[in-house]
Amino acid sequence: MASLLFIIFLSAIITTEAQQGESIVNLGSSLTPTSKSSWQSQSGVYAFGFYQQGNGYAVGVFFAGIPEKTVVWTFNRDEPPALASVTLNFTSDGRLIMQSAQGEETAIANPPERAASASMLDSGNFVLYNSDKKTVWQSFDYPTNTLLQGQRLTDGKELFSSASESDQSTGIFRLKMQTDGNLVQYPVQTTDTSQYAYWASGTYGKGSNVSLCLDDDGHLYLLNSTGTNIKNLTKGGYPTKDVVYFVRIDADGIFRLFSHNLDKKGNFSVLWPSSYNKCAPMGLCGLNGFCTLNDQVANCLCLPGFVSVNPGNWSSGCVRNFTAASCKSKDESTKYIMQPVPNTVWEYSYYSYLILLTKDDCAAACLKDCNCEAASFRDKYCYKQRLPLRFGRRDLNDANIAFIKVAISTSTINKIEPLGRERYSQKDIMILGISFGAFGLIMSVISAIAVYKNRVQAYRRLSNGGSVDLSMDVSLRSFTYSDLEKMTNGFKEELGRGSFGTVYKGTMWNGQKIVAVKRLEKVLTEGEKEFQTEMKVIGRTHHKNLVRLLGYCHDGENRLLVYEYMSNGSLADILFKPEEKLCWDERIEIARNIAKGILYLHEECESQIIHCDIKPQNILMDEYRCPKISDFGLAKLLKPDQTNTFTGIRGTKGYVAPEWHRKQPVTVKADVYSFGIVLLELICCRKSVDWSYPEEEAILEEWAYSCFEARELDKLVSDKDVDKKQLERIFKVGLWCILDEPSLRPSMKKVLLMLEGTVDIPIPPSPTSFLSTI
Ligand SMILES: *[C@@H]1O[C@H](CO)[C@@H](O)[C@H](O)[C@H]1NC(C)=O
Ligand SMILES: *[C@@H]1O[C@H](CO)[C@@H](O)[C@H](O)[C@H]1NC(C)=O
Ligand SMILES: *[C@@H]1O[C@H](CO)[C@@H](O)[C@H](O)[C@H]1NC(C)=O
Ligand SMILES: *[C@@H]1O[C@H](CO)[C@@H](O)[C@H](O)[C@H]1NC(C)=O
Ligand SMILES: *[C@@H]1O[C@H](CO)[C@@H](O)[C@H](O)[C@H]1NC(C)=O
Ligand SMILES: *[C@@H]1O[C@H](CO)[C@@H](O)[C@H](O)[C@H]1NC(C)=O
Ligand SMILES: *[C@@H]1O[C@H](CO)[C@@H](O)[C@H](O)[C@H]1NC(C)=O
Repeated sequence: MASLLFIIFLSAIITTEAQQGESIVNLGSSLTPTSKSSWQSQSGVYAFGFYQQGNGYAVGVFFAGIPEKTVVWTFNRDEPPALASVTLNFTSDGRLIMQSAQGEETAIANPPERAASASMLDSGNFVLYNSDKKTVWQSFDYPTNTLLQGQRLTDGKELFSSASESDQSTGIFRLKMQTDGNLVQYPVQTTDTSQYAYWASGTYGKGSNVSLCLDDDGHLYLLNSTGTNIKNLTKGGYPTKDVVYFVRIDADGIFRLFSHNLDKKGNFSVLWPSSYNKCAPMGLCGLNGFCTLNDQVANCLCLPGFVSVNPGNWSSGCVRNFTAASCKSKDESTKYIMQPVPNTVWEYSYYSYLILLTKDDCAAACLKDCNCEAASFRDKYCYKQRLPLRFGRRDLNDANIAFIKVAISTSTINKIEPLGRERYSQKDIMILGISFGAFGLIMSVISAIAVYKNRVQAYRRLSNGGSVDLSMDVSLRSFTYSDLEKMTNGFKEELGRGSFGTVYKGTMWNGQKIVAVKRLEKVLTEGEKEFQTEMKVIGRTHHKNLVRLLGYCHDGENRLLVYEYMSNGSLADILFKPEEKLCWDERIEIARNIAKGILYLHEECESQIIHCDIKPQNILMDEYRCPKISDFGLAKLLKPDQTNTFTGIRGTKGYVAPEWHRKQPVTVKADVYSFGIVLLELICCRKSVDWSYPEEEAILEEWAYSCFEARELDKLVSDKDVDKKQLERIFKVGLWCILDEPSLRPSMKKVLLMLEGTVDIPIPPSPTSFLSTI
């Protein structure tokens, strides 16, 4: 009996203590910017209410009692600041609103249930309770740029940096807790793909539903859904008395852990930054600028021949201070030189590349090409690019040398001092006049902006993403059978079986490079010469979306091919596994890259190659999950004359164009058909033929068309937040590709334009109704 009383007594104490630990805000309370302006937490560390923003006021949570407002959460951060006459009411009917002097209301929180009280908690969380004291809304669920102790950044959520320390509106960097388990920093307005990542936790694939957590002792770590710690970003164990910790993605793009010492008011120290290199955040410097470090402090410079759009605002970028003649105009009055800028890198957005011996050859190649505005040379690769150049920065560890095309007048040739150490030889300089015009300058600004907007989606991997293996020897090697036996350790480790044969893992260069060795099985007897000719055709293909052939073996009966090794398996491995969620943007990016690879085979390489077997199993994924097409050029080996009538069916069921069955001539349009099927699979994340679905849904192309006709595309896509217009556009591309009649299908070039949204796409006819539409 006594013990029962004691327990009741004890629980009474605990309850009162819990209530004391909170400062409750009752219905009917209100705040104004000028008189009672905030509700403080019990400890006095945090406050919820008005703070000054620009020449008005914003509502948020901030550290109380220190002179400079350190804001940790903001309501509607991108709205203009409110006037001093605004009031914040917690109305008697439980709504939390801002009311202007004119009576206009803005809801701050929209809880699913009516709120009965509110509280600014000591953790920095502002919460609304229902009448049972259950939390119905909390600011912790809507993080802006900061995470506090006990707050989590959950699956799929992002933090966005502020525009500056004093301006809490959305800035230009983001930190995303990806659904694939990786915590990644990107600039804003980029897709979630590795070419735009400038920092990552490296926990890709370590589990789904991973969240970022911060404990009371400054321990910052990632937890997977079963509660396992999968990565420590900081060790923790920092003092907990009178110190609070928070993490924030700062306006400069770096993600930092701070401690705030409550004893010494206003003292913040950085305990951990995501990067020590202040130039690492991509886009710090705007278009055509580049970031340099000066005593560890970032500084933006314009490329030679460019001037700052708005000096003092780095993100406004730089524009040319001369007017370049358009390529069409044949105006040859402007003459150019190539100014070298050493150790400087930017986004790889090249439109073509060459393999050249010296940097001077690279500069000369760009100078001669009217479309080329900058070139970048590293090892033997010369990348030709157009403006604008994004994400530029100087990296002294990078052997890259860049060349910028700059206009000069004859009188200034000798005056211009190149920025870099070397100067491009003047023998190639054509002596011509020069013309500047204010109108042209404005036009080049406008077109730079237009080009930038149009191409944002089409940009490719950045240099430090390392997608281009520059150490690769360009020439094709011929191996003997015993070489390959050694390399594969007697064909010990099988990687997979494809339509042409079995693939084994091997190593080259004393085990330093992993390769995939394919043993061709069904090669029709063909002469040595034809085989080698074919190998040369394949060996001469260079495209970032094609798997590179490194060498081959033609030894007696044996025909083997040696390819670069792709560490992430095939697209089929990723796409059809429910646990591997590829997000919409990533899938569309993959589709574009596959299209680029096929376009290259059809139109851009020396001799046209029809793949004949495009399917997810033949699309391999590199370490950055960039797709690369494999097995191209082999169809011809197995059966010469591939474009003539054909008896056996070469491709794989489900992906095979109807003309194969009709014994019609097979053209590049057969690949377009297969691409269309793969595109539909990418959109819907399922196989094209899958009998586990109800009968009317089992054949994807039929089901897709009937959904399209019924305007019910959302039945096919499980992703939320997909832009309806984009979905419809991509879908139409897929439906055009799978038309029965080959001549009605678009070319790959057209497909790419349609995917990129630069041309209008008519409503596709029914896939099999071609006769009536011709
Ligand atoms: C908000 O509070 C102010 C001041 O307390 C009051 O005059 C006003 O009527 C309130 N508005 C609502 C909608 O409750
Ligand atoms: C969480 O991580 C642990 C350890 O790495 C692993 O065993 C477990 O399967 C993971 N849970 C999920 C749901 O991925
Ligand atoms: C993810 O994890 C959180 C907490 O760790 C849990 O509340 C939530 O239900 C999980 N979601 C899924 C889809 O597993
Ligand atoms: C992270 O650190 C904790 C101790 O603070 C340790 O128990 C845990 O194993 C570490 N996790 C990893 C993935 O290293
Ligand atoms: C802030 O606190 C750190 C330790 O937490 C101390 O080393 C530093 O000197 C303090 N700075 C100021 C300005 O008080
Ligand atoms: C353009 O800028 C360069 C420096 O980058 C300068 O030498 C040149 O005179 C400028 N040209 C014009 C027309 O302002
Ligand atoms: C800086 O320039 C960018 C891009 O032109 C613009 O969006 C931003 O508002 C500018 N910032 C300031 C403080 O003027």
